[in-house]
Amino acid sequence: MKHVIDSTDLTVEEIDGILKLAQDIIDDKEAYSEACKGKKLATLFFEPSTRTRLSFESAMMELGGNVLGFSSADSSSATKGESVGDTTRVVSCYADIIAMRHPKEGAPMRASMVSGVPIINAGDGGHNHPTQTLTDLLTILREKGRLDNFTIGLCGDLKFGRTVHSLIKALSRYENIKFILIAPKELRVPEYIISEVLEAKNIPYEEVESMEEVMSELDVLYMTRVQKERFFNEADYVRLKDTYILDGKKLKNAKSDLAILHPLPRVNEISVEIDDDPRACYFRQVMNGKFVRMALMLTLLKANGAKLNLSADKLAKIPE
Ligand code: NCD
Repeated sequence: MKHVIDSTDLTVEEIDGILKLAQDIIDDKEAYSEACKGKKLATLFFEPSTRTRLSFESAMMELGGNVLGFSSADSSSATKGESVGDTTRVVSCYADIIAMRHPKEGAPMRASMVSGVPIINAGDGGHNHPTQTLTDLLTILREKGRLDNFTIGLCGDLKFGRTVHSLIKALSRYENIKFILIAPKELRVPEYIISEVLEAKNIPYEEVESMEEVMSELDVLYMTRVQKERFFNEADYVRLKDTYILDGKKLKNAKSDLAILHPLPRVNEISVEIDDDPRACYFRQVMNGKFVRMALMLTLLKANGAKLNLSADKLAKIPE
């Protein structure tokens, strides 16, 4: 049984295949519109979400399948004390594939150990968010035309931001990427990412506190919100929440083809005046998220032996 729990559970070749498939879906949506006829996706969301849950659901609907699930722990048997393992075992009797979000790191991994159907981690605590990473990779590929040879600045809450951890791990496998980590001291990237990923692979990186100082070097700027719900005390959150606010003035020295990404939700960290700048990619990124989840679900369903309702040439486009 194949699951996707961590952004490196897929090989670079599998990721490239999924991104290619997503682009084929974008170009030829109609051909995929019945691919998952009779299939069901369950979304088990123990933590709030707008984009991730709705994009999964919309992705399955666009493949002709159905969706069921819950959008908060309060409306599930978790409130009665049921374990993640038991909930998963039960739901895997009802659905062909499961997307799970959970505030506890490792919960989707636990679910994958007992599930009869593929589990996709839709975000676990401050740990990992592999489908956001696929979204980010597809966005960089479509905006820049490549996934190698660039400098990326990651800015904001690099400590608690799971999208950042996943993206660094995934990008560390492509050629000639330089990371500039822009964060206040309190919100720097966790030590294990530095030592086990960046230093272990000899990848160039810099840690800085000022965004302006590095702006002119960046090809991609990945903004993130300060993760209020993962702070231990309100005073620290209030002190740090507005450390970075990207506005027109800060972009003065930026490259003309900079790609500005944000996993969203945005709080204050990007001024709305930037939204109409052609370099602002975050709403296009949202759209990419739906297509890449369609591609991922097709790939996992096929890998686990499900019969898909697709023509032979489209079936052949799904990575093995
Ligand atoms: C992110 C998440 O949930 O980690 N949102 C998302 O899935 N697009 C980012 C965030 O919440 O800040």
